[in-house]
Amino acid sequence: MEHKQLKPFPETFMWGSASAAYQVEGAWDQDGKGPSVWDVYTKKEGTTFKGTNGDVAVDHYNRYKEDVQLMAEQGLKAYRFSIAWSRIYPEGSGQLNEAGLAFYDRLIDELIKHNIEPIITVYHWDVPQELMNKYGAWESRDIIEDFDKYCRTLFTRYGDRVKYWVSLNEQNVFVGLGYRSGIHPPGVKNLKRMYQANHIANLANAKVINSFHEIVKDGKIGPSFAYSPAYSSDSHPKNILAAENAEEFNSHWWMDIYAWGTYPQAAWSYLEENGLAPTIEKGDMELLKSAKPDFMGLNYYQTMTVEHNPLDGVGLGKINTSGKKGTTESTGVPGLFKTTNNPFLDATDWDWAIDPIGLRIGLRRIVNRYQLPVLITENGLGAFDTLEENDEVNDDYRIDYLESHIKQIQGAISDGVKVLGYCTWSYTDLLSWLNGYQKRYGFVYVDRDEDGPKDLRRIKKKSYFWYKDVMIANGLVDRNNH
Ligand code: BG6
Repeated sequence: MEHKQLKPFPETFMWGSASAAYQVEGAWDQDGKGPSVWDVYTKKEGTTFKGTNGDVAVDHYNRYKEDVQLMAEQGLKAYRFSIAWSRIYPEGSGQLNEAGLAFYDRLIDELIKHNIEPIITVYHWDVPQELMNKYGAWESRDIIEDFDKYCRTLFTRYGDRVKYWVSLNEQNVFVGLGYRSGIHPPGVKNLKRMYQANHIANLANAKVINSFHEIVKDGKIGPSFAYSPAYSSDSHPKNILAAENAEEFNSHWWMDIYAWGTYPQAAWSYLEENGLAPTIEKGDMELLKSAKPDFMGLNYYQTMTVEHNPLDGVGLGKINTSGKKGTTESTGVPGLFKTTNNPFLDATDWDWAIDPIGLRIGLRRIVNRYQLPVLITENGLGAFDTLEENDEVNDDYRIDYLESHIKQIQGAISDGVKVLGYCTWSYTDLLSWLNGYQKRYGFVYVDRDEDGPKDLRRIKKKSYFWYKDVMIANGLVDRNNH
């Protein structure tokens, strides 16, 4: 759609940025925190790039004031961060840790003092290890009560000051990588278990959304979904069908549940046919239907281009965690679809397709299908950055990336999509789960690498100043005049 004139960003638009507890906080056992599954998993041989972990990360736990000060100077409007469940309940349930609660009080108050809207994610993958030991975490229905208790504690404690909340971050990623490819904790490769754990996570998500609406009456909550809109490799109907399969299995499977409380038909019948369907108990579907998110959180990085994949075709391929471009293998589900390169798109050093228009397409698909506003909870470029003389980081490539995506958000707004805000990923550099510290996303460079924390000094990148101008202008700025 082309417009004679684009609509401006709404005055209330939340220009933000994001992080997650395990990736930034460090202080892994400080002030009574219990271990999470990531504290344990990253210590196992061969799980992460160069054996990196989040023990220290970028030490945000001890340096949060300095980080918030940087945000304030930049004029950041919103900051999305996650709470580490095992700081609040070190064993997942039972004993409450007041020191953990107090840390987030301090962080929230510091943000509010500087007019930065806090956006809390209650779960960004770091389930307490004790719940894994006790009952297999997301594989047991026991987690539904424990998660609800944990979330109620947060809603009650912070709901007076925090009005935007994210329930589960990228459920599709943590169950997919945890139980299909086995490269996230618990490192399992079993589809039956994956679909069952996923169903339980859906129930837990629905329950806490209902609890939230009961406790924080004037707040808004939604899940954050990692949506990679699917394209067909060409107009051959069998490839179009493959793209339909990818949309249904990779996206509608989750978003239909969030918005409507129903599983999509073709995917459900495929799972039944293959003995993979989750067990639905009495009351499950009613619970799923009863929970209504206030927005869809969207984490957007790339689109996926797919083609037909026969029953004896491609399965799981290797992913690139080293930053050596071109090392990602095609991946697929035999009988459904497989990924292929899109000749029209460039990719990052980690082989993620760069596709700003894909963001607009994704926004439109979500809004048309679900009639929900969208909060963009993540979008950003993972890249190698160079710290130059005089403490400069000239990350023009990151500015190009963000600028082109913001342009398409404005396009989507002009198309009629309601977008509440935009959180870039990430605020400071951080631990990129499997990819170590060399894959950098931040506006703020942190002086550390895989070999150790160095001095953890914070350095403003060029993109920091550029985003500052965008926020002042409430929209894109002419870079030549800045
Ligand atoms: C999302 C996660 O999947 O993408 C973030 O919510 C993550 O936690 C980000 O860091 C980028 O992924 P990666 O693997 O490059 O760190």
